[in-house]
Amino acid sequence: MPKDFLSVADWSADEIMKMLARAQELRSLHRSGERPQTLQGRTLAMYFEKPSLRTHVTFEAGMAQLGGHAILLRPDQVGIGTRESPLDVARNLSRWVDGLMARTFSHELVELLAENATIPIINGLTDRLHPCQAMADLQTIAGVMNPQEAKLCYVGDGNNVANSLLLLAAKVGMRFRISTPGSHRPPDWVMAQSRELAALSGAEIAWSEDPHEAVEGANFVYTDTWTSMGQEDEAEERRRVFAPYQINAELVAGAPDAWLLHCLPAHRGEEITGELLDGARSLIYEQAENRLHAQKAVLERVMLAKSGA
Ligand code: CP
Ligand code: NVA
Repeated sequence: MPKDFLSVADWSADEIMKMLARAQELRSLHRSGERPQTLQGRTLAMYFEKPSLRTHVTFEAGMAQLGGHAILLRPDQVGIGTRESPLDVARNLSRWVDGLMARTFSHELVELLAENATIPIINGLTDRLHPCQAMADLQTIAGVMNPQEAKLCYVGDGNNVANSLLLLAAKVGMRFRISTPGSHRPPDWVMAQSRELAALSGAEIAWSEDPHEAVEGANFVYTDTWTSMGQEDEAEERRRVFAPYQINAELVAGAPDAWLLHCLPAHRGEEITGELLDGARSLIYEQAENRLHAQKAVLERVMLAKSGA
């Protein structure tokens, strides 16, 4: 079992399904008012180079609910790479806390922290991947149907959220179509790794430039912002390039029974119309809720493995 949770690709399908089952159990327990104290006395450090609502609150609340504690670290306070090297930050934190959740621009930084820490490092989003979001999305899909029978379609930017979804779908054997402009396809390494994983799991992975073709017959249609954190200077150009990829009534006419997914934050009227985001087929707040439960399952898995508990 890997020490860290940096990419879903590092974890076996069996481990992912076990975490999914535990996430579903934790959700039921939480809804019935039970708070299992499995991480009593454990501490998670949380480091954010980018803004966050869901990731911050769900990790902090998740730790508290499991009997543990979370500490928020700000980049201007810690100064990774300016005040102190990533190596020394990793070595110091390893002496004090039981895990680090990091949201960084550079994926290489979370890898460097993981290499130099003896504690587990959890990827809370990098420019490359967002594995915690993908776990919550899997839980949301599993709440509706067997993920291995689901046809998931992602429309929009081939970025971190799409990359992790691709890898997760390929791992667990889901049918996954992705439609992006040719200029904003997922990186070649993600497509290649997904195809390798899909060959093992039986997943079907396909990319198309035509969103109508991709959406046809889907059970779930997913989108993400067109302008990710750190790309604000490109917002105007991106609005132009992605305009044909908006999730709207005309596009989802090809999948009238599809459930709609979005990792949030959303921009109503850009990547998805407000009507659909707030409509009866939207599962966006389920996804947001499941961030809490899916991450608690990840936290238990990596933190309890470390201590052998
Ligand atoms: N979906 C997501 O990661 O939300 P935040 O950026 O608010 O954490
Ligand atoms: N792709 C988005 C996801 C936000 C959760 C971003 O990186 O800003």
